[in-house]
Amino acid sequence: MDRLTSSPRLMIVSDLDHTMVDHHDPENLSLLRFNALWEAKYRHDSLLVFSTGRSPTLYKQLRKEKPMLTPDITIMSVGTEITYGNDMVPDEGWIEFLNQKWDKKIVSEETSKFPELTMQSETEQREHKASFYVKKEKAHEVMKTLSERLVSRGLDVKIIYSGGMDLDILPQGAGKGKALAYLHKKLKAAGKLPQNTLACGDSGNDAELFTIPDVHGVMVKNAQEELLQWYAENAKNNPKIIHATERCAAGIIEAIGYFKLGPNVSSRDVTDLSDSKLDHFDPAYEVVKFYLFFERWRRAEVDNPEVYLSNLKSVCSPSGVYVHPSGVEQSLHECVDKLKECCGDKKDKQYRVWVDQVFPSQIDSDTWIVKFKKWEQTGEEQQGCLTTVVVSSKDVKPTEGLTWVHVHQTWINGTTPNTRNDWFF
Ligand code: GLC
Ligand code: MG
Repeated sequence: MDRLTSSPRLMIVSDLDHTMVDHHDPENLSLLRFNALWEAKYRHDSLLVFSTGRSPTLYKQLRKEKPMLTPDITIMSVGTEITYGNDMVPDEGWIEFLNQKWDKKIVSEETSKFPELTMQSETEQREHKASFYVKKEKAHEVMKTLSERLVSRGLDVKIIYSGGMDLDILPQGAGKGKALAYLHKKLKAAGKLPQNTLACGDSGNDAELFTIPDVHGVMVKNAQEELLQWYAENAKNNPKIIHATERCAAGIIEAIGYFKLGPNVSSRDVTDLSDSKLDHFDPAYEVVKFYLFFERWRRAEVDNPEVYLSNLKSVCSPSGVYVHPSGVEQSLHECVDKLKECCGDKKDKQYRVWVDQVFPSQIDSDTWIVKFKKWEQTGEEQQGCLTTVVVSSKDVKPTEGLTWVHVHQTWINGTTPNTRNDWFF
């Protein structure tokens, strides 16, 4: 986590399926609300950690399907694989540690003796994780017997039941909680222990996240029976753990507010964006706000288009330039004029825009360079642009917002559109 020079303000460690991602919400609204909040208010000085049961294969698949942010750290395969950054560089120390008292061959031999266990797909069988399906009624008995047999063969394992169907077998030292404790230790050694950590989950494999000292926890509203039961038996009197009244990512936002961990109003919940003024310059917030406007504009959700356009023009420098990913240059004012043509063109088309990894850096007393990824999704198709924006606070007051001086975009590999249906920004 080299980009952080000191302790992160907040570290969110969140499960994905049915926690960050609501599979019952085809609009992905709570996830998009969380994204806007994170990018505008937390990204620059906080840490986002995804902790999922999925293997790298299924994790990457989910990222293609859903409007997800890029985490700083990705913990996969139920806390058995830890990776860092965009390139997902594996933590070799963790792999070595997990080899203790673990022998996958013995696990296979013993599990094959249980007709109640059905093996999960090949992608979900990992070096330090063996995964099966087992019916709810059989789970308890199978776990007990299997555990005894593995102990008698000299292994020290952990068996976890999740979602009322999945059974994972891991080394004792693995799991989502152990992986979090390991990260805390590593961050502490580097002098970067987070000021606050919030763990978020919905199912059995998330339970141990809530056992790590000094961690706030939220079980989202839609938490599974096995997690709620664990809570009732083990953590009922712990004031640091709540059962949210909201589903999935909305429950995470609720917990940020409940535990007073920082700002908890997402720009997506602000209807009139032109009305939400700040008393200080905030480039990340400006970027998030602009792309929300852009989405609403194309979805035909902007109330006063004319007023909006003239406001927009007033925050673009007359000499400002936009460099399109194709290399074509245009003045920013021309671009604003052109916006008229795409007003409402994505109405009823499940169109969404979100920004990811918004990193502003101040280059002199009144200028910032903001780098980020802008993503657009229409139906199932995602398209991304690496974007660099230069904004300036020269001759403006904070309440007027920053002046956009330069915008430059490049297609993100593999998402170049086939048609020139792209417009601007
Ligand atoms: C994810 C994984 C699966 C695992 C389950 C519960 O669904 O793909 O292998 O059993 O999480 O941890
Ligand atoms: Mg889950």
